[in-house]
Amino acid sequence: MIQLCVPEIRGNEWKYIKECLDTNWVSSAGSYVDRFEKEFSEYLNARKAITTSNGTTALFLALKVLGIGEGDEVIVPSLTFISPVNTIKYVGAEPVFVDALRDTYVMDVDKVEELITPKTKAILPVHLYGHPVDMDKLVEIARKYNLYIIEDATESLGALYKDKYVGTIGDIGCFSFNGNKLITTGAGGMLVTNNEELGEKAKFLSTQAKVVNENKSFYHPEIGYNFRMPNILAAMGCAQLENIDEYIEIKRKNAAYYNKLLKNVKGITLPEEKEWAKNVYWLYSIVIEDEYGVSRDELIKIFAENEIESRPFFAPVHNMPPYINCKRGDLSVTEELSKKGLNLPSSVKLTRGQIEKVCKVIIKIV
Ligand SMILES: Cc1ncc(COP(=O)(O)O)c(C=O)c1O
Repeated sequence: MIQLCVPEIRGNEWKYIKECLDTNWVSSAGSYVDRFEKEFSEYLNARKAITTSNGTTALFLALKVLGIGEGDEVIVPSLTFISPVNTIKYVGAEPVFVDALRDTYVMDVDKVEELITPKTKAILPVHLYGHPVDMDKLVEIARKYNLYIIEDATESLGALYKDKYVGTIGDIGCFSFNGNKLITTGAGGMLVTNNEELGEKAKFLSTQAKVVNENKSFYHPEIGYNFRMPNILAAMGCAQLENIDEYIEIKRKNAAYYNKLLKNVKGITLPEEKEWAKNVYWLYSIVIEDEYGVSRDELIKIFAENEIESRPFFAPVHNMPPYINCKRGDLSVTEELSKKGLNLPSSVKLTRGQIEKVCKVIIKIV
């Protein structure tokens, strides 16, 4: 089976985790948590990085430290994994859905302004499948209306918008280290910010809002959370981070090879990389147009018969029962992409032969 996207474990993971086991530092204290936060912030050129239990808790925390809650609206794409939308609801705010772009699949920034109301407090762009959102335009809108930007960069670690890493451009950026992500800790997340105060607040809230008194008793001035990452997982994160640039280069080469083999196939639209972007192709994604002759869903079945795992684009969140009555703009591109978009195998360990096998299936149908 050629799998969709599996972890790449080829560095110091065993060594660092063994060190945690040998020294008993397996839980939330220990040197690897600080080290992972430091090295991650250095990698992204961000002031602060705070580990969390997963990407969803990082997003929740971001909304919380920015004071977003009851009565507030947050503009978010509908073409996304549901997690960022759920976190808006967790804090008591309301999502307002914006459409996607046909070429890069990310939030259509030109459709954001019309959705802004006096209740809007933040915009939550999702850098989907490895490609950045057009951040300059979004920052301009946010400044004009005094809104926060929380970047969901969970699927695009290492991607660049101009010369900046995604996740470091808005007020807060969030990352995930779930097993299918570019680097993984099994489960885990990171909140990144250039605002020291927000960073400290996030760390405080994620560690039970705990103040340790002189006699070691705890004092909690507000309600905190246990969103900590254990040392044993941070150790894995440190090892994974050591190879990140190599993984990104492999993913980009694999995408280039897919592009080369598929470029003349009628009815297949290839992924774009805008001139201002560095796409990390977390999941190499294509659109199966009507003229291809076989539908996206039929193609998924044919892939499965050939022992190839593929995945349809996310189903639009605005059609899910909890969100059916939420405010929205025109979502026609989202609807279309979710019916026609397809993620192809994208693991770092994917071989050229495997890419050829996937492309042969696509070409043979034509
Ligand atoms: C766009 C997006 N946001 C948020 C998340 C949530 O991350 P986690 O699974 O670590 O909670 C994911 C993926 O898992 C995601 O794809």
